Amino acid sequence: MRVQVQGLAKAFQTMDGKVDALQELSFEVKPGEFYTLLGPSGCGKSTMLRCIAGLERPDRGEISIGDQIVSSSSLFVAPNERPIGMVFQSYAIWPHMTVFNNVAFPLKQQKVPKKERERRVMEALSLVKMEDLAQRPAPNLSGGQQQRVALARALVSKPQVLLLDEPLSNLDAKLREELRLEIKDLLKRVGITALYVTHDQAEALAMSDRIAVMFLGRILQEATPKELYLKPNAKFVAQFIGQVNFLEGVVLESSVQGMGWVQTSHGNLRCPIPATMPRGAEALVVVRPESLKVSEALERENENVLQGKVEKAIFLGDFIDCQVLVGEQRIRAKLPPTADFKEGTHIFLHFSPQACAVLPNPVLE
Ligand SMILES: Nc1ncnc2c1ncn2[C@@H]1O[C@H](COP(=O)(O)OP(=O)(O)OP(=O)(O)O)[C@@H](O)[C@H]1O
Ligand SMILES: [Mg+2]
Repeated sequence: MRVQVQGLAKAFQTMDGKVDALQELSFEVKPGEFYTLLGPSGCGKSTMLRCIAGLERPDRGEISIGDQIVSSSSLFVAPNERPIGMVFQSYAIWPHMTVFNNVAFPLKQQKVPKKERERRVMEALSLVKMEDLAQRPAPNLSGGQQQRVALARALVSKPQVLLLDEPLSNLDAKLREELRLEIKDLLKRVGITALYVTHDQAEALAMSDRIAVMFLGRILQEATPKELYLKPNAKFVAQFIGQVNFLEGVVLESSVQGMGWVQTSHGNLRCPIPATMPRGAEALVVVRPESLKVSEALERENENVLQGKVEKAIFLGDFIDCQVLVGEQRIRAKLPPTADFKEGTHIFLHFSPQACAVLPNPVLE
């Protein structure tokens, strides 16, 4: 089922004034899509989910789920009448009940007959691979198992839309990685529309069909994980997702079939220039550390070249984290573990025009 959010705004009154938690936010989650709101603490992610769940009433704007408007200036559908399930960061499962009874609870409230209830609870538990632990008291479970129970309980009512607010952040790193893929696969199998909230960029990249990057109650960019990483549209997005180098310059020649030139203090760089940036525009060239190759010789056709000196080279197993002084600027490069460049070596950094992105500078955010 589709989720549509149109011009949503929500402010909170606090002791020290007004906080604009959501500022005219709009987005649409397609049926069956795994859509993630990604952003730093306090950017409004939970407020957004709570508005969709009906736990918070927006000041302005409209929310629809499927064909039904659930929230507008004249209408507010109660949380239990919205076709949604919700999973939170804290597992929120009841400690005095068994796993089975935890999952059965929503069905009991809906007065689903006992036989069918049992069938659906076991079906939900098998989805999260917990059917063997059905009779276990809930407190005797690991964090990951508790979160699986919470997921089963959210799915047992067969909601059309599942809202997940940082469901993995209480778990240790290894379990988090395991559950990421498990949850993604499970939700795809069930075919449910998922709206996921996290501040963890790796999690967002690994799980999502599309990601909306939020900052101060607004969406800065909405894109697939790959687009977001390779073509960030704002400095904040580029910095928030992965590591990045910024090279300042001025557009020398604007877009000819997508490619142009940017003049920088390190020489002229061939880059894809957005159509909106004319000759003379202040530009910020974005290059990821892994897009840089290093050599001691200059020859490299059709690639941009920066000249510098290795300041630090730290061996990290799967790559070498290299810091290179280029003019006055420190540039990060990720080199293969077999590379052998001693600190102090003069080197050339190469990158292809396709491997960089250009943003306006100063960046309007
Ligand atoms: N009930 C409330 N009363 C006052 N201010 C609130 C309330 N709920 C949220 N806020 C404020 O609204 C802003 C957005 O909060 P929200 O909880 O949506 O952020 P978040 O993106 O979920 O952050 P986190 O990653 O830390 O969970 C914050 O500045 C927060 O302090
Ligand atoms: Mg939150």
